[in-house]
Amino acid sequence: MKQYGLLLVALMGLSSLTLAQTQYHSFLPGQIWKDDKGVHINAHGGGILYQKGTYYWYGEHKIGGDAGNQARVGVHCYSSKDLYNWKDEGIALKVDPKEGSKLEIGCIIERPKVIYNARTRKYVMWFHYEQKGHGYDRAASGVALSAKATGPFKLLKIFRPDAGTWPLNVLPMHKSTPFNAMGAKFNGGYCSNDVDSVNFVKRDFEGGQMARDMNLFVDTDGKAYLIYSSEENSTLHISLLTPDYLSTSGKWVRVFPGKHNEGAALFKRKGKYYLFTSACTGWAPNPGRSAMASHIFGPWKELGNPCTDKDSLTTYHSQSTFVIPVAGKKDAFIFMGDRWSPKDAIDGRYIWLPIEFKGDKPILRWRDEWTLDVF
Ligand code: GAL
Repeated sequence: MKQYGLLLVALMGLSSLTLAQTQYHSFLPGQIWKDDKGVHINAHGGGILYQKGTYYWYGEHKIGGDAGNQARVGVHCYSSKDLYNWKDEGIALKVDPKEGSKLEIGCIIERPKVIYNARTRKYVMWFHYEQKGHGYDRAASGVALSAKATGPFKLLKIFRPDAGTWPLNVLPMHKSTPFNAMGAKFNGGYCSNDVDSVNFVKRDFEGGQMARDMNLFVDTDGKAYLIYSSEENSTLHISLLTPDYLSTSGKWVRVFPGKHNEGAALFKRKGKYYLFTSACTGWAPNPGRSAMASHIFGPWKELGNPCTDKDSLTTYHSQSTFVIPVAGKKDAFIFMGDRWSPKDAIDGRYIWLPIEFKGDKPILRWRDEWTLDVF
């Protein structure tokens, strides 16, 4: 009798496990996406690292309500072999309950990205960091290190990139004209389009450039770059990292001054570089943008909104986050966007769509459901 009881319990356990586990064979943009434990994947503003047959997805772990817009837990990591089904690997970088610590609960950790450095054999995480209680004023980069893809990552430093260096495409006026605080105070905020005459570059020359929305890109030659929204979110900077990927090297460029690009995601196809970005409207979606260059340091050419159908003006209610090169498929790339839910941050959804091309122009089309067979 006792044995039958045990068998029954075991079977019940098995069936609830089976019920909890959803096997995916396709992408379902915008829908709840469950991990191996049956829980909606919690990795917002994320990025994907592919290594030795496994994809790792890192992103902001959100909690419910608007408190979830700050870091309460840390950076969540998931792993997958097929991009459809994701295993919960736990928290790769934890926030710190200790009052006054840099990663204190309630700080902001956004858009974490991880790359692998073959020389040092270390996993390097970069993220946008804001100090607890200081809104978005700190505008800095955090760097954390781990010996394993799934962590634990240890915080190495928080800093503003490119201190003490001029961009490769510096204008003579950046060096000769002082920061124009009056010009910067535009409509009561920092929103002037004429960022060159304001000269944020000069203002932040010594302390380092402001770094908010960010991404990383590793080129085919192993060189890695940080792409970040700078100069009060008005201008993108693309900055070469040092060979260990832990710092900026001082070689950087300004891209699209005054155009207010956020959510930058960079990828390379057939020797050309492509950028997806969004406009600058906080959590609210806006029309996406795309650009192309023959060299990563530019000149970059705007290609316009990549979305081609209904909901183009909101990028399908999402904001660009990352572009995933699909392993084993030539020229196959996935657009990864966030459908933010700032009032209940944990409910944010993921918009993954295949990137198509019309000549040289990347194109997105809405799909309720799709598989990797489209490539
Ligand atoms: C968005 C940005 C997000 C987050 C948000 C805060 O524009 O892309 O990462 O910073 O603003 O309002």
